[in-house]
Amino acid sequence: MTGIDATTMRTDLCGRLGPDDAGRTVTVCGWVDRRREHSEHLAFIDLRDHAGVLQCVVDGARDLRSEYVVRITGTVTLRPEGTANPALATGEIELQDCEVELLSRAEPPPFPLDERADVDETLRLRHRYVDLRKPRMQRNLRARASVNRAIRRAMDAQGFVEVETPMLIASTPEGARDFVVPSRKEPGSFYALPQSPQIFKQLTMVGGVDRYYQIARCLRDEDLRADRQFEFSQLDVEASFATRDDVLGFVTRAVAEATVEVAGHDPGTFDRMTWHDAMERFGSDKPDTRFGMELAELTPIFADTRARVFQAPCVKGICLTGGAVTLPRSRVDELVATCQRWGAKGLAWMRVVASGAPGSGGEGSDSSGSGGEGSGGSALDGGVAKFLSAAEAAGVIDALDARPGDMVFLVADERPVVRHVLGLLRLGLGRPPVNDGRFNYLWVVDFPLFEGLSAEGEPIPSHHPFTMPHEDDLAALMSAAGPPTGEVLLDVRSQAYDLVLNGWELGSGSVRIHRREVQQRIFELLGIAPDEAQERFGFLLDAFRYGAPPHAGFAVGLDRLAALLVGEENIREVIAFPKTQSGADPLTGAPSPIAGAHLQELGLRVLPPA
Ligand code: AMO
Ligand code: AMP
Repeated sequence: MTGIDATTMRTDLCGRLGPDDAGRTVTVCGWVDRRREHSEHLAFIDLRDHAGVLQCVVDGARDLRSEYVVRITGTVTLRPEGTANPALATGEIELQDCEVELLSRAEPPPFPLDERADVDETLRLRHRYVDLRKPRMQRNLRARASVNRAIRRAMDAQGFVEVETPMLIASTPEGARDFVVPSRKEPGSFYALPQSPQIFKQLTMVGGVDRYYQIARCLRDEDLRADRQFEFSQLDVEASFATRDDVLGFVTRAVAEATVEVAGHDPGTFDRMTWHDAMERFGSDKPDTRFGMELAELTPIFADTRARVFQAPCVKGICLTGGAVTLPRSRVDELVATCQRWGAKGLAWMRVVASGAPGSGGEGSDSSGSGGEGSGGSALDGGVAKFLSAAEAAGVIDALDARPGDMVFLVADERPVVRHVLGLLRLGLGRPPVNDGRFNYLWVVDFPLFEGLSAEGEPIPSHHPFTMPHEDDLAALMSAAGPPTGEVLLDVRSQAYDLVLNGWELGSGSVRIHRREVQQRIFELLGIAPDEAQERFGFLLDAFRYGAPPHAGFAVGLDRLAALLVGEENIREVIAFPKTQSGADPLTGAPSPIAGAHLQELGLRVLPPA
């Protein structure tokens, strides 16, 4: 018997055998990956288990088909000179003198297990048990387990206690739609499934747990996307007598250790950026900092402009290196239309040419270009260049550090529109592939407390309503004369922070409000009436009456972390049994109707579709 791979039924894993094992008699188990006839009597069977594939030379008489489950005993033998397969990890060896035991027959698989085959996702999910046999899925599931293992180790080392919180609860405050579960004991009453353990983890702080964590399942009824599922997992964290920076430290360590474990890559220090800088420089609260192309501020350059296009509260631009050469006119026109769909009035573009060479901006140059000279000996040409004064052109070239051959893009509008559109354009033009092997973690701090005003003029919270306002902005909020109103409120910062990885929002957290009067003021501002607050979150407010420690916390989306660490663009690839985009589970058929008697018992009646 050998190492940990051995069980009563086998001595080794297929994929772990190598030249060092030559001469050993071993027993391996697995699925028939491929069968090739060698001669009338001999066949090659590629046997597959989760560790890899092993070639077995088998007496050809047997009827062994793809995906049959077998147990093979044989002698590890070096392959003859010149027959090694460098594409296979076990390519230098094969198993000879094999004795085969058939453990289970298999129908032909519903789709090829070849990684390169393009298989419809619904079919893959319907037979997920077959799909999971693929090396890629095995790698992903194991990587995910490694993430959890590294995280548990790091949290444990930092004194955190894993506490499980209930799944059948009252509504939580994350702002998505709840999934609900009807109560049989109390017909007409419902449990909500947790969108996160938010309130319970805060209650553990009141309960003296001091440092809580949980690898928690969360449920949210929202529209699904590549980075969203109904059910997902969080590394959920909360700590007492801890500041924001303490929490950032705890989470940084856990995430860094997971990165080392899975990607073998120490991500180094996690940079920090304020929300304000992220929005101004990258046009996003989750900037992908793997590449530059930052948004340059051009508003002052156009302060007195005569160009109608740029007479707006905000003008910003980005520069695409080499774009004057690489972007055909047809593509530029598409970009203009795309930006209009994103909400811009238009997209102004100009080519950068060597100064003294107006009209030399390449074929299709459609203006003589009055364009001024920048300090680098460049001028603007084509597009809206003819509307710019020499000083404006020079200012644009300098601010964007543009060189001949580049293309610059400008948007003029309200500031949020400019940031939004140029942020998306920047990603569209410059974003590297998700799996380029780099892991740029970034903390975005000082989020605004409110992300906007509703039609009724009420502020909309950026994070959940238990988020502590920024210390420097707290006095204004708490003033006896009443809090500020309208637009002024939008400048109030919070002590909320996000973790971003390669442009994906990986997690969010905040310092919490632990004082009742501050919490009441926030509810008031959010238009949550006292009786509603009491009804929804009363138990938390009550708890705070009995001595609440200052506390802060965070939650990391583990599906997203695992996906990025293995280079997948869709979190479904790191979830064993995900739902399709439409929320269905092709494997079990959920969701499905339930029997009338069951409805009766729950006190429910289903209405015909509206
Ligand atoms: P938040 O709602 O921002 O914060 O969620 C934290 C992280 O969870 C992940 N996530 C999701 N992943 C997959 N599918 C989804 N539908 C989904 N929704 C969220 C994201 C996100 O950044 N209780 C607070 C945290 C706190 O304040 O401590 C919370 O849940 O990666
Ligand atoms: P127009 O004068 O509307 O024909 O626009 C001239 C060029 O400027 C077109 O390429 C428009 O896409 C672009 N444009 C129009 N409005 C804006 C704006 N607010 N910001 C940036 N570019 C604009």
